[in-house]
Amino acid sequence: MVSRINRQIVLVRRPVGMVDESCFAEVEGEIPTPGDGQALIRVLCVAIDPAIRGWIDERGSGYLPALKLGEPVRANGIGVVLETRSERLPVGALVTCLTGWQEYSIACGDFSDLTKFASPLPEGCSAVDGATVLGQGAVTAYAGVVRAAPPVAGETYLVSAAASGVGSLVVQLARLEGARVIGIAGSPEKCRWVVEELGAEACIDYKRENVDARLKALCPKGVNVFFDNVGGELLDVVLRRIAHRGRIVLCGSLSTDNAAEPHRLRNYDRLMSRRASMVGLNVIDHWDLFPEALKRIGGWLASGTLVYRSQVVDGLEHAPNALVRLYEGDHLGKLVIRVAGSPLG
Ligand SMILES: NC(=O)c1ccc[n+]([C@@H]2O[C@H](COP(=O)([O-])OP(=O)(O)OC[C@H]3O[C@@H](n4cnc5c(N)ncnc54)[C@H](OP(=O)(O)O)[C@@H]3O)[C@@H](O)[C@H]2O)c1
Repeated sequence: MVSRINRQIVLVRRPVGMVDESCFAEVEGEIPTPGDGQALIRVLCVAIDPAIRGWIDERGSGYLPALKLGEPVRANGIGVVLETRSERLPVGALVTCLTGWQEYSIACGDFSDLTKFASPLPEGCSAVDGATVLGQGAVTAYAGVVRAAPPVAGETYLVSAAASGVGSLVVQLARLEGARVIGIAGSPEKCRWVVEELGAEACIDYKRENVDARLKALCPKGVNVFFDNVGGELLDVVLRRIAHRGRIVLCGSLSTDNAAEPHRLRNYDRLMSRRASMVGLNVIDHWDLFPEALKRIGGWLASGTLVYRSQVVDGLEHAPNALVRLYEGDHLGKLVIRVAGSPLG
């Protein structure tokens, strides 16, 4: 039965520097009514994505409007359709969209509003999988490897935040294409996982090792592809080691998401001297790959060709703490909040 209250977590203060829990507050809102072409969904899961930090920042993310104070925190999630005025979103369908940190949300079936656009999940996909390994991060990793920087057999493919949701998939997809993959991650445990289970040739612990020295030893001919989730100082280090005609994919900026000032690159001139290129990746531009990415990644997961880890935290109220934990890096596996129990899990 539909409750009459919509429990929400809203933004009450913009973070300055590192995000903390005092930026958010729990409130009781109203359950919205779907308009033409829209559906009301019950939110089952929300992913704790680094994108949230950009959306709540004063500067905004540059591709979606900055969240206003008092609005529910924007977040990717999975919901089940309760009421519908959209042919694309039938009652009972499980959909992925920007549900936000709330119990009920409005979704629409077309691109008229990117902040509400919903895609139905394939048959048999669970809510947790839809928010993690078969979520927008999977499409990002797939688009990165298929379109932005396809791996070449034998070439060196370096991946930062290699134990993250996106990074762990990129490591494996590039390895499947025959590239020699090297990861960068933040603990011995994560590095072990990246090598032993994801199949990278090596993984550099950027918190404990000298990344430049390790790259010099591991990549004497330079880095052919750098799939970068981190930006900042690490990107500067890799720019010094980029190979002739190397390619860099800017996928994320984890190291500077919480910085008061943007990092100023010192070594970008290596792009010129090495005839290298750097390209930005935004999953929104590659949403046409959603069915193909989910079908192929889902198949590889089922056959054991790919592995993935997620950590489910029960209760919407834990979302702010989970966002802080994301940047502490003390977890192995993509963080996801279960907002409501569901037989689909
Ligand atoms: N461009 C797009 O369209 C798009 C779409 C989705 C995701 N992304 C990007 O993909 C990347 C991974 O996202 P995800 O959702 O897969 O992440 P995730 O699974 O939540 O992983 C987060 C990990 O990031 C690392 N990290 C946190 N703070 C860091 C810092 N200051 N410096 C370096 N690493 C840090 C931590 O691992 P360590 O312990 O290894 O530091 C942490 O465990 C992010 O950069 C995200 O913005 C981009």
